[in-house]
Amino acid sequence: MAISYKDLGFVNTREMFKKAIEGKYAVPAYNFNNMEQIQAIVTACGKSNSPVIMQVSSGARKYANPILLRYMGQGAVQMARDAGYNIPIALHLDHGDTFELCVQCIESGFSSVMIDGSHHDYEKNIELTSKVVEYAHKYDVTVEGELGVLSGIEDDVVAAKSIYTQPDQVEDFVKKTGVDSLAISIGTSHGAYKFKPEQCTKNAEGVLVPPPLRFDILEEIEKRIPGFPIVLHGASSVVPSYVDIINNNGGKLKAAVGIPASELRKAAKSAVCKINIDSDGRLVMTAMVRKVFMEKPDEFDPRKYLGPARDELVKMMIDKNQNVLGSAGNA
Ligand code: G3H
Ligand code: 13P
Ligand code: ZN
Repeated sequence: MAISYKDLGFVNTREMFKKAIEGKYAVPAYNFNNMEQIQAIVTACGKSNSPVIMQVSSGARKYANPILLRYMGQGAVQMARDAGYNIPIALHLDHGDTFELCVQCIESGFSSVMIDGSHHDYEKNIELTSKVVEYAHKYDVTVEGELGVLSGIEDDVVAAKSIYTQPDQVEDFVKKTGVDSLAISIGTSHGAYKFKPEQCTKNAEGVLVPPPLRFDILEEIEKRIPGFPIVLHGASSVVPSYVDIINNNGGKLKAAVGIPASELRKAAKSAVCKINIDSDGRLVMTAMVRKVFMEKPDEFDPRKYLGPARDELVKMMIDKNQNVLGSAGNA
């Protein structure tokens, strides 16, 4: 039997985005697929009084089991209430690729879904996205669409080359599909290797600095659809200090480069009102687990390495909410 997200205590993204645009900040969308990540999201967003979108990819659903994942999401709402955190929480499908997957998620209690038709041609993207919107809106579930292609390789999200969003298409796409928010491509990409070293310059500390995001395209898009909620995927910063911890403790991450926090701060002040962060969490957890294993080779209690990973994740997320997205204090 179908379950409504409203009965589980989630909210859709409509009000969140309206407030984010007015308040000139972005709502964090953190991916999760295990308990420690959920604990970190609730704790960090609760402590920093930030609205939050907890999102799961189809890869995460396969990894954790869709039923368990839904109950974990529900558990997050209860955990937040029990801790006295009065923050809005949305449960969102990240990169949904079929109508059927979106339906399954809506029926199991998701308050928001993304239908990523960006790999299809324009007309097919409109057709697929409209179909999802028509279904989702019957249940007051919000829908994110995407125009333009981000490069990067992950479990189920693969593209070799990015294609920037064409501002000329956005108004037509939004009008024809009825989507509630739009993910765009302006130079971000998925994963920890967002830029090739040869695309970057080196700063005084020897850190690779990537080319700037295409804020000119973002401005053009904002002119075409003023006040419409824009989403930035592939927005991890790939924080060099965590990459260093990984590499100093047996890891081999070479030339990993992300989006500088200053660029995200600038984007968050614009119509960008949802910023997706997954890789930064993966890097934090890997860094702490590697550190514990190197420092305490006799340790074999998962709580002793996943615990520090979770605690560092909380710190990273609080920093994002306070200093990068500006969502802290806006629950
Ligand atoms: O954008 C994709 C997310 O980072 C999810 O990645 O498909 O490996 O779970 P995943
Ligand atoms: P990152 O790989 O930059 O964290 O992006 C995550 C994302 O866009 C999830 O949809
Ligand atoms: Zn993404």
